[in-house]
Amino acid sequence: MSESPSIIGLGADHAGRDFKKLFKKHLALKGYQIIDFGVADDVLKADYPEIAGKVAKAVKDGTCHFGVLICGTGAGMAMAANRYPGVRAASCPSQYVASLARAHNDANILTLGQRVLGPDLALAILDTFLTTSFEGGRHQNRVEMMG
Ligand code: RB5
Repeated sequence: MSESPSIIGLGADHAGRDFKKLFKKHLALKGYQIIDFGVADDVLKADYPEIAGKVAKAVKDGTCHFGVLICGTGAGMAMAANRYPGVRAASCPSQYVASLARAHNDANILTLGQRVLGPDLALAILDTFLTTSFEGGRHQNRVEMMG
């Protein structure tokens, strides 16, 4: 794994496909390398735990530096991804939550809800998450306590 967090694993169920497409374009323009874990654009129904598992495993084994998961609300993706040890998935409805999820919790997966956020805010949250560093220090031990 290189030092710069440049490989992003993207995943969405049917309720998050549009954001996934938007994020792919946006991140590619910014120079990130993207691995798309589905669901494919023409699939009408998908199970979020399945997609979350693929991205969680890729983050856990170091294939991806960060994961981004999109469903209708962001809640199901977070629940499913957090079942994998070493994964810290945070559902972030604002830039404030995204920045602290990174700075204090060292979150490695961002989850978002396409049914509850507009595209501009979603992109701003995504950028904040990917560019905020973990502060370490007093937060290190707390993160380690989560396993
Ligand atoms: C799919 O209809 C919806 O339940 C799912 O995308 C997600 O919001 C679950 O958390």
